[in-house]
Amino acid sequence: MSDRRIYVVLLGVPGAGKGTQAKLLEQSTGLPQISTGDIFRYNLKNQTELGKLAKSYMDRGDLVPDEVTIRMVQDRLQQPDCVRGAIMDGFPRNLVQATAFDTMTAPYGGVRVAPLIQVEDDETIRRITGRRSCRTCGAVYHVIYNPPKVEGICDVDGGELYQRDDDKEDTVRNRLFVYYKQTAPLIGYYYAKGLLREVDGAMSIEAVQQALLAIVVG
Ligand code: AP5
Ligand code: MG
Ligand code: ZN
Repeated sequence: MSDRRIYVVLLGVPGAGKGTQAKLLEQSTGLPQISTGDIFRYNLKNQTELGKLAKSYMDRGDLVPDEVTIRMVQDRLQQPDCVRGAIMDGFPRNLVQATAFDTMTAPYGGVRVAPLIQVEDDETIRRITGRRSCRTCGAVYHVIYNPPKVEGICDVDGGELYQRDDDKEDTVRNRLFVYYKQTAPLIGYYYAKGLLREVDGAMSIEAVQQALLAIVVG
């Protein structure tokens, strides 16, 4: 196929490190990170119609309706920076989205690979509760595991670091529940297609990145 693109689907529970790793993969491969969570948070901050619609779902830790999310990704993939493919972070997140993504990407060879970042639940809770995110660029830090050079300030662009609203304990618990019910079936879905690759997410950020790079470019 002449117009083959590289679509990487990062899988893993909330807090596994998808956003952290997607940003690093973006730097090393030049493929853009597409984080549906980041796009929703951007719209929330700017109080767009999309942001207002997404807010109640995100506050509860539920999925934003598929129709809205799928259309948003379709639009994003048409941007010029996506001509070589993309690193998908948080999409697809259920079987309806996965089949829609297959249809969208079919003309370009479909999904290349689906790495699963595996982390135990108690570790993901530790990671989420210590997380700080940049308001402007979405870069992710951790107060202990991955602190910024200057407290409260993003290393990349000097943006303000904040704690996400959906990182409250009740919401985190529902996000994990939604993950096991709706997103975990994607593991079997990509396994059956021969695209799943498991990565030990308990390793350091650098070690996980090396493992992912070997999978994506290897
Ligand atoms: P989203 O923003 O996607 O959140 P999530 O899936 O819950 O995942 P997280 O962002 O919490 O975790 P992550 O895996 O990215 O971990 P991170 O790298 O930050 O979604 C939010 C909401 O938006 C959803 O609930 C839903 O409402 C909506 N939404 C989004 N996509 C949707 C879709 N497709 N359909 C419908 N609704 C959608 O790392 C976590 C922490 O750990 C950080 O502090 C980091 O520094 C640290 N860390 C990372 N790796 C390591 C390591 N190896 N060692 C030590 N610490 C580490
Ligand atoms: Mg994330
Ligand atoms: Zn930043």
